[in-house]
Amino acid sequence: MTQTSIIVTGGAGFIGANFVQQWIAHESATLINLDKLTYAGNLASLSTVESNPKYIFTHADIGDFDAVSALLAQRHPVAVVNFAAESHVDRSIHGPGEFVRTNLVGTFQLLEAVRAYWSALTVDARQRFRFLHVSTDEVYGSLQPGEAPFTERTPYAPNSPYSASKAGSDHLVRAYHHTYGLPTITTNCSNNYGPYQFPEKLIPLVILNALAGKPLPIYGDGLNVRDWLYVGDHCTAIRLALSRGRHGEVYNIGGNNERANIDVVRTICRILDELRPAASRKPYESLISFVADRPGHDRRYAIDARKSSDELGWRPAETFESGIRKTVRWYLDNQDWVQGVVSGEYRKWMEKNYGVREAT
Ligand code: NAD
Ligand code: TYD
Repeated sequence: MTQTSIIVTGGAGFIGANFVQQWIAHESATLINLDKLTYAGNLASLSTVESNPKYIFTHADIGDFDAVSALLAQRHPVAVVNFAAESHVDRSIHGPGEFVRTNLVGTFQLLEAVRAYWSALTVDARQRFRFLHVSTDEVYGSLQPGEAPFTERTPYAPNSPYSASKAGSDHLVRAYHHTYGLPTITTNCSNNYGPYQFPEKLIPLVILNALAGKPLPIYGDGLNVRDWLYVGDHCTAIRLALSRGRHGEVYNIGGNNERANIDVVRTICRILDELRPAASRKPYESLISFVADRPGHDRRYAIDARKSSDELGWRPAETFESGIRKTVRWYLDNQDWVQGVVSGEYRKWMEKNYGVREAT
């Protein structure tokens, strides 16, 4: 009897690495992590599991049909969880091509390989198999203040190349269920934060810039609203969706934690003032700098997660206050990891995105 296994794609990224660690800690099945190791993929985020016998790493692209097919044939997984994606909105504005290649075409190739594998399984194994696609609330577009949060029935209205490429991948997943009967599940989650997030995203960027005494760039008026969820809670939701989710269904996942960007940044500053006061004794808030807005910047995202709560029995364990404090502490305590990611490539990105962004 071979050991049960699952394949996770993009497991060296932010959410993927948190998921891999949680899986190894709580589940018995072997986890095979297939990752292309782009700038966002970091094996240092997996150092705690790398020698665990339940963990296997494979360096590959989800868009490589032959490589994915060979892995499926070799490992015989009971599920595939697809995290792999280009994930940063600002990068999608500077260069949308890679987003279409990985998020749309890559997901298509992955689905094709999985469909061929799944079609050849026994009836029982086909029934048990699951393809879980990890997606975002950004596919639903932008809400006005006071508008009802996104439900699973909200029409898609993506506004950035990132969200459009994710929306396309969600539609492909839906079509593979509808047309071929592939047992799919899609999760659409709000903004995550927590350990191992690449510091191009708002929360880690603000923590690291503050510690370095650099400006804290706030796009536009700082009143854009996101619903923030601690990454560990997202990972728990995905594990529950995998075990309890119904085939062909979509589950929205969110933290019920709507915050304006300026409030998020001020909260981080206050925690840093307490845990690591600046040498100058000036409050970190004095580093806040309003800069030119992101083109097409979505005003507000909010999630109605009642279906996940009712059907999966999922509820977030962290509040924003507890999660953000844990996160700031993690970045303070893990300077080795931080030093490993703020490479030459990172500096180039900072120059490209912020160098020409005028203060407002
Ligand atoms: P990330 O950018 O931190 O990591 C992406 C990972 O995918 C990296 O390890 C990268 O090397 C890998 N990858 C990229 N292209 C690949 C390819 N062609 N083949 C194989 N691997 C490839 O992203 P994240 O923030 O961890 O997000 C993971 C998933 O969750 C994405 O699908 C994203 O759309 C979704 N999501 C993210 C958030 C968020 O707030 N970060 C919220 C909701 C949904
Ligand atoms: P981000 O972390 O990039 O996530 P997303 O765009 O997927 O929501 O950004 C979160 C919010 O913070 C978003 O409204 C854009 C804003 N933002 C800034 O104000 N300054 C920054 O330097 C960054 C990266 C983001």
